[in-house]
Order: sequence, then structure tokens, then C-alpha cells
Amino acid sequence: MASSPSSPFGLLTFFSFILLVSAIRIDIIRKPSSSPAVPKFREAPAFRNADDCPPSGHVDIVMTLDANYLRGTMAAVLSMLQHTSCPESVRFHFLAARPEPEILSSIRSTFPYLDFRVHRFESRRVRGKISRSIRQALDQPLNYARFYLADMLPADVRRVIYLDSDVIVVDDVRQLWEVELGDKVVAAPEYCHANFTKYFTESFWSDPELAGTFKGRRPCYFNTGVMVMDVKKWREGEYTKRMEEWMVVQKHKRIYHLGSLPPFLLVLAGEIKAVDHRWNQHGLGGDNMEGKCRHLHPGPISLLHWSGKGKPWLRLDSRKPCAVDHLWAPYDLYKSSSVFLEE
Ligand SMILES: *[C@@H]1O[C@H](CO)[C@@H](O)[C@H](O)[C@H]1NC(C)=O
Repeated sequence: MASSPSSPFGLLTFFSFILLVSAIRIDIIRKPSSSPAVPKFREAPAFRNADDCPPSGHVDIVMTLDANYLRGTMAAVLSMLQHTSCPESVRFHFLAARPEPEILSSIRSTFPYLDFRVHRFESRRVRGKISRSIRQALDQPLNYARFYLADMLPADVRRVIYLDSDVIVVDDVRQLWEVELGDKVVAAPEYCHANFTKYFTESFWSDPELAGTFKGRRPCYFNTGVMVMDVKKWREGEYTKRMEEWMVVQKHKRIYHLGSLPPFLLVLAGEIKAVDHRWNQHGLGGDNMEGKCRHLHPGPISLLHWSGKGKPWLRLDSRKPCAVDHLWAPYDLYKSSSVFLEE
């Protein structure tokens, strides 16, 4: 459906653009110093539990909530509800720096039946602790909220699935939830063939004390955008504090270039429960620098993850989508995009 500028689609885009620009203008006039305008979404259908759903078997999902990624969050939520046999048993915990009323009412009107609560993430918890990474988006305080989620959730929540906002779940999320953790704190797909060395700098590996961190472990890369976490064990083991200690080391010595990932690797690599790779087809957003298109890896897929610089909603809007972005599009609830889907 690639269109020349003179096609009706091109014209529509142009008009949507004008509308968007005027909407932003209005917003700027109304709220001079506030965040971006909250997009408009279609209402999702109601999803009902199958007959054999356990009456008290909740699945607790944690995601961050931010106006910039709201379109991704909405699509991720829809994808989970659509593919699980017990959608009414899925509870969402959204971590937000500023729980803005417009965002909350947007979730309520898009998913009128959603079981969700919003927990406030105090950005001052990471103030002064974040070092600049290779991509500005990784330096947002909210990106570090996953370090602190155990403190933010109610004490009766013992296990959660943490998910980034740029994922689509195309399988029953309950299967991931039911993974056997054993004595481990985190479960995630791990990649032992990835070059682990490159996640840390020369000054890390050349310092015997620092490099000795992984002694006695077989550290493997894992992606922190999809994690099953035993929140109780996390609290008991003071994992938040351990992550923060590495952020302090980073401030002094620059031992890595990425954002919130390296502290996770330092504390947990080689100590996690490995789950099937189907649960995180990551990297679909391309690399951190250019966001080039990527292909799917062979094998079955339960979760697609647009980690990296490119985001499917932005690439679709720019009318230069990657092939994999068409897998995201069916979950897009953004109102103006329905124009393209229904034409
Ligand atoms: C892994 O990465 C490091 C650092 O970039 C590099 O020096 C090393 O040659 C790489 N090893 C392999 C096996 O590619």
C-alpha cells in the first residue's frame, strides 16, 4: 500500500497531520508547560473468561505508563487480553511518574472492563544516579522503574510479569506466568551465544575486582523488557539496593554504555531461570543508533518486542514501516489509524 504523495492516502495523511498539528497547538495553548497531548483510542471489545478459569488465579502484569508510549501500551494490553483464555483474571499495574488524569481516563474509556491500578514512581528515587547512555530514550527515569517495582506494588503481589510498552503478546500470557522459578528471582529468555563482553567497557574488564563479579557464574545476556519476577524474593534479597550500588560505580568509572540493562546483568546474569526464546523476539525496533529493519528469528513466537530505536507506530505513521511492523498494526487502537485500516 505504498502511496505516492498524490494518492488519496497521501492526502488523508496530510489532513491528519494538519489535525494533529492543530490539536497539539490547542494543547500547548491550554497547558503551557505540560506533557504531550494524549492520543485518542477506539474502545476495545469486552473479553470474557473461559469456563475453566481458576477463580482466584490472577496474572499480575507490570508496565510503565507514559504519554509518549501510550499507543504501545494500549496495543500490548489488547494483545494480551485477546490471546489469553482468562482475560478477566489479568491485572495490570501501571507505573507512572506523573499519573495524569487524561491518561487514566484514556485507559478507562479504551478498556472499560480492565482491572488496573496505577502506582506512582517517584523520579527523585533515581535523580543523580542515572549516567548518560548511548540513546537518550534509555535515560528517562521511568526506564529505571523496573528496579523499584517491588517497593511500589502491594505486599500481597508476590509474582509479576514485567513488560516493556513496545511488545505484542500473541500467545496465552498465563503460560509465561506459570513458569517454574525454583529458587530464582527472575525468569527470562537468555542468550548464551551473544557476546557478553561488549555490554561492559574496557575499564570494567581491566579491573580485576570488577571483572571478578561474574566469577563462578556463566553470565549470559538477557533482555529486561520481558521478565517474570518473584517480588517477594526480590524484596528479601534487597535486589533494588544491589542495582543502585552498580549505578554508583557507573557514575565513577563508566563501566557500561547502556541504561538500565547492565545493572541487571551485573546482579543477575547467570542466575536467572531461562525460559523459551519464543517469549521475547526482541530487537524488532532495530539497533540503538539507526533503528534499521530487522527480520524475525526462525522458530515459534509468543511475544514480539520492538526493542531498539524504531517503534512500529512511528514507522507506520511515517509510511516507511518495516515488514515486522505490520504484525503490530492489527493491535493498534489509535483512532486516526482506523481510517487506514478500514479504507
Ligand atoms: C566480543 O566483544 C569484545 C568487545 O567488543 C571483542 O573484543 C571480542 O573480540 C568479541 N568476541 C567475539 C568472540 O566476538
